[in-house]
Amino acid sequence: MAKKVLVIVSSPRKGGNSELLCDRFISGAEEAGHQVEKICLKGKKIAPCIACEACLNNGGVCVQKDDMGEILEKLIAADVIVLSTPVYYYSICAQLKIMIDRTLAGGSRLKSKEFYFIATAADGAHVMECTMNDMQGFVNCVPGSVVKGKVYGSAFHVGEIQGRPAMEEAYALGRNC
Ligand SMILES: Cc1cc2nc3c(=O)[nH]c(=O)nc-3n(C[C@H](O)[C@H](O)[C@H](O)COP(=O)(O)O)c2cc1C
Repeated sequence: MAKKVLVIVSSPRKGGNSELLCDRFISGAEEAGHQVEKICLKGKKIAPCIACEACLNNGGVCVQKDDMGEILEKLIAADVIVLSTPVYYYSICAQLKIMIDRTLAGGSRLKSKEFYFIATAADGAHVMECTMNDMQGFVNCVPGSVVKGKVYGSAFHVGEIQGRPAMEEAYALGRNC
């Protein structure tokens, strides 16, 4: 059955390693017949959550009017969500964290997703566990959701992930999602 797949690219680097891995995932998912959309947070206007709690009391309407409104609707509509991030000081990057925090306005409408995580770091897989845990924490807050797969991409300079095994791992996950 064709699924709606939403791929979130959070790296500020155009053509960065995590984006290249996402593109391989997308190739696999499209070949499998799924409907895929990729959103790059770079260039999007998304302000941080200000914890005003308005959305908790008004049926889920954020007081901040920026690009997150549209992204949130796409997250809610997706069957599969791919979260990708470069590792920055053992954590997800700020762009992804800001997007995640703003999903508070989605309330109970954000539920029952299949998630995939893609992380890239200069060092090996061991430095990516904290970052994977950051993303897992978000998934734990989305009822009925599961993490179906993770890609650990080890590469430093932009594009360095090309030709490495993680590229084919990402493709295979997309193909089987
Ligand atoms: C601000 C900053 C912090 C970083 N922190 C780490 C780190 O803690 N561990 C690590 O292995 N690599 C670290 N890196 C390297 C990136 O994770 C690495 O270059 C990665 O491939 C970037 O992914 P991208 O090309 O998708 O942006 C850091 C890079 C930057 C710019």
